[in-house]
Amino acid sequence: MCLHVEVLVPSPKKDEVLLKLEAASLNPVDWKTQEGNLRPLFPPRFPFIPEKSFCAKAGCSFTFGGESGAATSAVPSRGTERRDDVAHSVTDVAGEVIEVGSAVKSFKAGDKVVSMLIFMKGGGLAEYAVASSSLTVHRPPEVSPAEGAGLPIAASTALQALKTAGAKFDGTEKPLNILITAASGGVGHYAVQLAKLANLHVTATCGARNIDLVKSLGADEVLDYKSRDGEILHSPSGKKYDAVIQCTTGVKWSVFEPNLSENGRWWLLLLQSHDLCEVCPEDAYLC
Ligand SMILES: NC(=O)c1ccc[n+]([C@@H]2O[C@H](COP(=O)([O-])OP(=O)(O)OC[C@H]3O[C@@H](n4cnc5c(N)ncnc54)[C@H](OP(=O)(O)O)[C@@H]3O)[C@@H](O)[C@H]2O)c1
Repeated sequence: MCLHVEVLVPSPKKDEVLLKLEAASLNPVDWKTQEGNLRPLFPPRFPFIPEKSFCAKAGCSFTFGGESGAATSAVPSRGTERRDDVAHSVTDVAGEVIEVGSAVKSFKAGDKVVSMLIFMKGGGLAEYAVASSSLTVHRPPEVSPAEGAGLPIAASTALQALKTAGAKFDGTEKPLNILITAASGGVGHYAVQLAKLANLHVTATCGARNIDLVKSLGADEVLDYKSRDGEILHSPSGKKYDAVIQCTTGVKWSVFEPNLSENGRWWLLLLQSHDLCEVCPEDAYLC
C-alpha cells in the first residue's frame, strides 16, 4: 500500500530542529494505534494517516533520500501551519539537521542525528519533520541511519525495564539472574545487550532460528521457546529469576511463578488486553 499526501514542510519552533529524514522505524505501538487499540484516547478520529501533517511524500519504504530518490536537497515549500488537529504516529527517526530554532545551541545544520518525535504528533514517515532538541542526539558515523532510527523507543524501553529490575550500570548492582523473553525482538535484543553491560546473568528465549543471534548478543543461556524447557521457562542451569522482562504475549503467570526467586519481580511490556487478564500478579510492572 502506498500513500501520497502533499503538505508544507514545517518550521521549527525555538527549541526544535528541522530534520530531513534518512530512516524511520516502526514500533508495535504504531500498528497497534492503527488498529484502534488506543481508542478512544488516540487518535481522535479515523481514518488515521500517520504522515498527513508533516510529509511531502510518503511510501512503503523505511528509508528516505539517497538512491531511493524520495527527497531532494532543496527544501520544498515551507509552512508555519501545524496540523495539530490530525493525529500522527511513527516517532523514531534518523536524519540530517536542516535548520535549528533560535534557542538551540547544541545542533547546527548538517549534523546527523537520531530523534524521538513527539508521540501524539509523530510524522516519522515524512521527508521532513521537526523534533524537540531535547529528544535529539548526535549520530556517530559508525551508526547507520537505520540502526539509529531503531533505537529510541525500543532501547529506552529496555533500559527503563532493566533499571526497574535493579540494573545500575555503575558496577554496584547485586548479581541478578534475569529472564528476557522474545530476546530476538526489538526490545529484547537491546535488553540482552544492556543487561550484560550491567553484569547481569541473562537467560533468554527466542525462536530456534535466532538462538545464535541472541547468544552473540551476550546471553548466558538461550532457550528455544518451542522446546520443553522453553515452554516452561526453565533455566538450563537451574537458576531462579530475580526479574523477568516479558517481551512476548500468551505466557500465563502460572508458567512464570515457579521460576521466580523469593523476591523475584516481573516486568511486563504490554501488549494485548487479553494477556493482561491472563497474567496479572501483584508485582507486575506495566509499560
Ligand atoms: N518496540 C518497542 O519500542 C516497544 C515499546 C514498549 C512495549 N513494547 C511491547 O513489547 C512487546 C515486544 O515488542 P518488540 O518490538 O520487541 O516485538 P518484535 O520485534 O515484534 O519481537 C517479537 C519477538 O517475539 C518472539 N516470540 C514470538 N513468540 C514468542 C514466544 N512464545 N516466546 C518468546 N519469544 C517469542 C519472536 O522471536 P523469533 O523471531 O525468534 O521467533 C520475535 O523476535 C510488544 O508486545 C510491544 O507492544 C514494544
